[in-house]
Amino acid sequence: MKTSLNKGNVGFVTSSHPSNERLQIVTLSRNTVNNFSEKISNFDVQSVEYKPFLRFFIANSLNQATQNTLGNYLLKTIKDRSTGAVLLECESMDDSILNGTDFIDFNILLSTAISHLIGVPNLDSMSGKFYARFSVKNEDNSDSYLRQAHRRMELHNDGTYVKEPTDWVIMQKMLEVNVDGGDSLILHVDDWQDLDKFYQHPLAKENLQWSSPASKNVGYKTYHPIFLDEQVEGEPRMSFIDQFVEPLNMDQGLYLYEMGESLETEDNTFNVQLLEGSMLIINNYIWLHGRDKFVPHKNLHRELLRQRGVFVENTGYDNKKNV
Ligand SMILES: [Fe+2]
Repeated sequence: MKTSLNKGNVGFVTSSHPSNERLQIVTLSRNTVNNFSEKISNFDVQSVEYKPFLRFFIANSLNQATQNTLGNYLLKTIKDRSTGAVLLECESMDDSILNGTDFIDFNILLSTAISHLIGVPNLDSMSGKFYARFSVKNEDNSDSYLRQAHRRMELHNDGTYVKEPTDWVIMQKMLEVNVDGGDSLILHVDDWQDLDKFYQHPLAKENLQWSSPASKNVGYKTYHPIFLDEQVEGEPRMSFIDQFVEPLNMDQGLYLYEMGESLETEDNTFNVQLLEGSMLIINNYIWLHGRDKFVPHKNLHRELLRQRGVFVENTGYDNKKNV
């Protein structure tokens, strides 16, 4: 594992993840956490929900606590195809350095600061807010695999069924009780050994139909291919999820079936364990993500938060359409 204390980063250290060199671990120092929590101690979660500009203010407060180095580092790493993912942790989150802010509230404000250092979150239509909190428990009656504990959630990209771009995803763990298993699973598109087989296929660039179950509150269908426009260098980016793509003929159905089988048996997929208060930040079009199954426990409980959004150059998607 390579650890970096220099390269101009102040108030945090970086290292590569032991299972995969692409994933960068960022650890905010105790001093940075303390400094940030002091600056935001006058704000509560509701005020940040009601006033969008406050989200930028708290993002700037965090960046200032690192002498404006954290924002640049995160953006560079998430946009760089060779990395494109960060596991962000805090050296300490003791009560003594949270300056009176509740642990869960601090977590929400921290991920809000992070999302506004790398862009702007999209409205999450499931929650009606810029973020969504949800619980995973032992039993569940929902209409997708999101909250179901006893099965592996297959690898996918987010935002497949909405019209606006989804450049990045933040997945944060806020609380965990009686949990064994349920690690995040991630795979970089370039590490998928069957990539060429599916990318060179005649259906790779064909528009497919996508929709979502009622809980997502999205009342339309979208149309796009699995493989999106390439980045400048010409490498493929992906937008795939098995549950929400609707094949309209046998060729599409079998292409998608084989893709799902290939992804679920890919050896290069790796597990990432998130501690309470940590978050994964991934470039959504070059990393697929999923979740391993949990070991059953009747009092299993996990509180998660997610944000999905765009880089600043991709904001105003609906406005641009009308120009
Ligand atoms: Fe997801």
